Amino acid sequence: MKEKADALHKEFLDRLAGLSDTQALENLRVEFLGKKGKITQLMGELRGVSAEEKKAAGLLVNNLKNAVQDRLKERVDELSAAAFDAMVSESRAYEEALLIAPARGSFHPITLMQRTCEEIFRSMGFTIEEYPEIVDDFNCFQALNIPEFHPARDMQDTYYLDNGQLLKTHTSAAQNSIMRKYGSPLRAVFPGRCFRNEAVDASHENTFFQMEGMMIDRDISIANLIYFMKTMLSEVFLRDVTVRLRPGFFPFVEPGFELDIRCLICGGGGCPSCKHAGWLELCPCGMIHPKVLEYGGIDPEENSGFAFGLGLTRLAMMKYGVKDIRTFNSCNLKALSQFANA
Ligand code: DAH
Repeated sequence: MKEKADALHKEFLDRLAGLSDTQALENLRVEFLGKKGKITQLMGELRGVSAEEKKAAGLLVNNLKNAVQDRLKERVDELSAAAFDAMVSESRAYEEALLIAPARGSFHPITLMQRTCEEIFRSMGFTIEEYPEIVDDFNCFQALNIPEFHPARDMQDTYYLDNGQLLKTHTSAAQNSIMRKYGSPLRAVFPGRCFRNEAVDASHENTFFQMEGMMIDRDISIANLIYFMKTMLSEVFLRDVTVRLRPGFFPFVEPGFELDIRCLICGGGGCPSCKHAGWLELCPCGMIHPKVLEYGGIDPEENSGFAFGLGLTRLAMMKYGVKDIRTFNSCNLKALSQFANA
C-alpha cells in the first residue's frame, strides 16, 4: 500500500508540474480524486487490507488525498493570480487606446469604467443621460412601484434632507423622468453617484456609482435583455462572457433577475475570485413593471422594456482587481492613477 501511495503521489506531482491551465488541472483532479479516480480506487482497496493494518493504511491514503487536494488548490490559486494580472494589463492597454489622457493628472478608475460603458452603449444606439443627485421621494421610490412603508425601502437606508428631498439611493430614480422625456421607443443609459447609509468596509461604501439602462419599444423581450447584457459585458471584459439569469425581486421589474457571469479567472471551475462558485453576480435587471411604464406615461399594453442597474463601482473593482472599495474615495493618488495613462 505504501509503495502504491508513494508512486501515485510522485505521478501526481510529475503530471502537475507540466500543467498551466485550469481545465487541465480540473482533468487531473478528476483523474486522481474523481469517483473513479486513482486515489479513490486506492481507498477502495482498503477493504481488502487486514484489520491490524487497516488503520495505518487508511491514514496513509487519507494523507495522500489531502496532500493532493492542497497542492491542486495552491496551483489553482497561483494560476488565478497570474490570469488576473494578465487581464489587468490587457484592460489597461485597451483604455489607453480608447482615451486621450490629459497632460497632467489622470482619470479616476470609475470615470474610466463609466466612459468605457458609455462608449459601448452609444455604439448600440443608446443615449447618455444626466440626472441630479438630489431627488424626491416620488422619483426615487413611488414611481418605481415602491410606495411609502414598502419593505423594499429597508434595503436602501436613505439620507433625507430637511426639505423632504433625499440623496438618490440608486440610478433607477431617473427612470420616470427619462420615460417622460422620450416616451417609447427609447434606449438610454444614465450613470450616477448614489448614496446609502452603509457601514463602510472593504466591500460597502456609503457613496458609489451605478449605471442604469432602459430599452423600451414594442415587443421588447427577455431575449433582448440577454443580448444587450452579454454584448456589453463581453466588450467590457474584452472576451466572450457567458451569462445566466436567476430570479431576483425588485418592485419595479417583473420578472426581475440577478444576472451572473461565468468567472473569467477560472472559467467556471471555481477559484478564490468567485468564492469557488464559478459564477459572479454582476447586474440586477428585469422587464419593466407595467405600473412603472404607466407612471412614466407609456402605455404598457402597447409597449414593453427592460431595465438594468449595473454597479459601476463593483465592475471597476472586478476589472481592475481592486480588493478594497474604500480605495476609490481615498484620494490616494498613487493607487488611483495607476489605471490611466497619466
Ligand atoms: N436599483 C436597484 C438597486 O440599486 C438595482 C436594479 C435592479 C436596477 C433591477 C434595475 C433593475 O434597473 O431592473 O438596488
